[in-house]
Amino acid sequence: MSHPVAETAPGEPVDALALVRDTVAAAAGPVEAGQAAVDMLYERFPHYDWVGIYWVDPSGTELVLGPWTGPEATEHTRIPIGTGICGAAAASGQTEIVDDVNADPRYLACFTTTRSEIVVPIFHEGSVVGEIDIDGSDPAAYGETDARFLEEVAALLAPLRPGATAQPGPGSS
Ligand code: SME
Repeated sequence: MSHPVAETAPGEPVDALALVRDTVAAAAGPVEAGQAAVDMLYERFPHYDWVGIYWVDPSGTELVLGPWTGPEATEHTRIPIGTGICGAAAASGQTEIVDDVNADPRYLACFTTTRSEIVVPIFHEGSVVGEIDIDGSDPAAYGETDARFLEEVAALLAPLRPGATAQPGPGSS
């Protein structure tokens, strides 16, 4: 199976990670930073056909859609943990790579064009606080290169979760 990220530009994930870090650091606040990060992933990687972040809601039972970028809005703005591919990744804390969404009985359909999907949990202090969800129009669009890269991206996004304590600004004591 091919890995488009590695094939098109060896080393690109490392550069893209620095770009995510810079994008997050330059944003006005956590919501803007999350939006800028998903926009960057969507624009930079042609096989990332829809990119969104879901956050675990305060009850800990549902995922709630946060920033997203793509051709269409999804109807799945709230997903119970344990439901769908998104809910499975949140429940297990494991990255999910689905080569053929139509062959996966867990799949919650969003877009008629989607053929494959990757979901990467976002952790804070060992607990899942959210996830990155990416849909692809090609079968088997995602592999281990994407998984390892997006797991590093997820670590950069964890501080953006709703309710996170804001970092003290310059001049505060
Ligand atoms: N397909 C996901 C639902 C979210 S949409 O892809 C944006 C799932 O099965 O959980």
